[in-house]
Amino acid sequence: MKLREIKPGIYWVGAIDWDRRLFDSLIPLPDGTSYNAYLIKGSQKTALIDTVDSTMQDVLINHLNQIGIKSIDYVVANHAEQDHSGAIPQVLGEYPEAKVVCTPKCKDMLIDLLMIPEEMFITVNDKEAILLGDRTLEFIHAPWVHWPETMLAYLREDKILFPCDFFGSHLATTDLYVSDKGQVYEAAKRYYAEIMMPFRTTIQKNLEKVKDYAIDIIAPSHGPMYDKPEFILKAYHGWVFDEPKNIVVLPYISMHDSTHKMVEYLVGALVWRGVTVKQFDLAVTDIGKLAMALVDAATVVIGTPTVLASPHPNVAYAAILVNALRPKLRFVSIIGSYGWGGKTVEQLAAMIPNLKVEILEPVLSKGFPKKADFRALDNLANTIAEKHKEHHFA
Ligand code: FEO
Repeated sequence: MKLREIKPGIYWVGAIDWDRRLFDSLIPLPDGTSYNAYLIKGSQKTALIDTVDSTMQDVLINHLNQIGIKSIDYVVANHAEQDHSGAIPQVLGEYPEAKVVCTPKCKDMLIDLLMIPEEMFITVNDKEAILLGDRTLEFIHAPWVHWPETMLAYLREDKILFPCDFFGSHLATTDLYVSDKGQVYEAAKRYYAEIMMPFRTTIQKNLEKVKDYAIDIIAPSHGPMYDKPEFILKAYHGWVFDEPKNIVVLPYISMHDSTHKMVEYLVGALVWRGVTVKQFDLAVTDIGKLAMALVDAATVVIGTPTVLASPHPNVAYAAILVNALRPKLRFVSIIGSYGWGGKTVEQLAAMIPNLKVEILEPVLSKGFPKKADFRALDNLANTIAEKHKEHHFA
C-alpha cells in the first residue's frame, strides 16, 4: 500500500485489518477496522502517535522503514489498550532511543499490560507540551474515552487533533479522509454506541474541552480522518447531549410464536400512535445494530418467553448489555409469555440497575396471547406514546 503524507513530514503509518470480524471477542466488525498510527517529523525531534495491534506490528515497522525513519524520539501512547499499544515493545526494540510519552495512569497500565520497563517512560500532565523543533505536541488529558488513562494529542502548528479511540470508527478503508459520509456516520455511531456511550457524561466534558482548540483535521486511531471536523463533532454533540427521540427499541426472542405475536401486535399499535419502533430478533441480530438503536431511543420494551422460570438466556444477555451501555433511556417495559409460572419480570428488572428508568406495566401472557393480552398491549402502547409526548420526544 502507498504510504500517505498528510502534510509535509506527517505520515499515516498504521495498518488496515480488513478481515477482523470481532473485537474484544464481543463486538461485531462488519467492515473490519484499522489501527491508525501517525509519524510526525519536527525539525529536531520525531514522534510516533500510537502504534498498532500486535498482530500487525510488522506492517507498522515496514511503513516506518519505507519512509526512511532512522530514529524516533517519542512514542506517544494516547491509550493503553492493546490495539494501539500492542506494537510499542517492538517499536522500542527497533528504535531503542525512543521514550514512551503518556499519562501517569497510562504508564502504570502499560507496565502491567506489556511489561515495558519503567525507565522507558516520560509522563505528561494535562496541557503539557513537548517541542519537536518547529512543531509542538500538546497533550490533553481526557479520562474515560473509554479507559481511565486516556489522553488526546494536539499538534499546534498544524491544528491536527489525534484523539485515538475518540471520534473513531471501525472501518477498513484505504480512504485517508472521509469520502462516503453515510458509511462513516454509521460506523462512527456504531463505535460510539459500543465503546463510548457508557461514559456519556465524561464524554460531554471532553467534548467541551476539545471546543477550546482550533482543529483543521481530526486523526483518530480507527477509521478515516476528518478533514471537515464539524461533521463528527456535530454528530457526537447530538448523540451525547440531545434528548432521546420518539423511538422504542424492541429486542426479543420467541420460541413458539407467542412472544412474537405480542411483539408484532405492539409494534403495530405503537406505529399507529406515531411512535418509531426498531425491532430486533435476538436469535439473529447484530448487537452493534442494537447498540446503535439505543443511542437515540426513549424506551426499550424487552420481549421474552419464560424458560426454566427465567427470561430466555439471549434476552438476559441483551438486558445485561443494555445495562452496561447505559443509554439515555427513560422507560423500560417487558412483554412475553409463560407456560406455568416463573420470575421473568423480577429477574430482568434486577439486571438493569444502571438505567435510571421508569418501568412501565409489563404484559405477560399465559400461553398464546388472547384478547385481554392484546388489550393490555394497546394500553402499553398508549402509555408509551403519551409519555413520549409529555416529554416532547420528537
Ligand atoms: Fe481502539 Fe480502546 O482501543
